[in-house]
Amino acid sequence: MNSVGVPPVVELRQLTRSFEQGGVRIDVLRGVDLAIQPGEIVGLLGPSGSGKSTMLQAVGLLEGGFGGEIVIGGQSAEKSDAQARTRLRRDHLGFVYQFHHLLPDFNARENVVLPQLVADKPRSKAEERAEELLVALGLEHRMTHRPSQLSGGEQQRVAVARGLANRPALVLADEPTGNLDEATSDRVLAQFLQLVRGEGSAALVATHNERLASRMDRVVRLHEGLLE
Ligand SMILES: Nc1ncnc2c1ncn2[C@@H]1O[C@H](COP(=O)(O)OP(=O)(O)OP(=O)(O)O)[C@@H](O)[C@H]1O
Ligand SMILES: [Mg+2]
Repeated sequence: MNSVGVPPVVELRQLTRSFEQGGVRIDVLRGVDLAIQPGEIVGLLGPSGSGKSTMLQAVGLLEGGFGGEIVIGGQSAEKSDAQARTRLRRDHLGFVYQFHHLLPDFNARENVVLPQLVADKPRSKAEERAEELLVALGLEHRMTHRPSQLSGGEQQRVAVARGLANRPALVLADEPTGNLDEATSDRVLAQFLQLVRGEGSAALVATHNERLASRMDRVVRLHEGLLE
């Protein structure tokens, strides 16, 4: 609990993860502790291979194999069954990936509408929300374009809108602007941070980029399996 008695949006307690490859065991995470408060934007830094994506996968509850405890919105993921974990993910988390995984056969607006329909929002509300987000990201003239008809930066902004569509308490972003040129990357990240702040969501953002990380509320660094 923090000073106002609200639980952190996520708490990692002694998170561990090892991989075995060709008979060799790599301990990627060796006891990571982290708590993120509501509305807090945290940059996750560390060299390539240090375990940033592995850590985001843990928090995203998409994969097993982790040791320690993951608590989301005050609820322990370990103590939840598969159905409850799916609900935790749907009700608390939003995802923005580097390679945005937009659905190629759906236009920009539909890509932002779909996760809301999955979360049982009525279509009219979902469309309103999608348009609000896409307008906020400067895509008002791209609503009906498919991903293949959008530039890389535009696709990434659609992915940002999709990640925020269900008003997640915590947005997980893995190199959200990693495949864009520097100027575009800066612009998209600035828009992303502004939108996340405006929505009052918290975020955990993995990046290599120190300059971008300096715009976040706090930076944590992965080093030899631990957070410094
Ligand atoms: N499924 C897997 N099987 C075996 N090893 C894995 C697996 N996934 C990740 N690893 C190893 O775990 C380590 C951490 O990988 P991870 O992708 O988390 O790093 P990262 O910090 O995200 O790196 P980058 O900045 O390059 O994205 C790497 O050494 C990687 O080879
Ligand atoms: Mg990674």
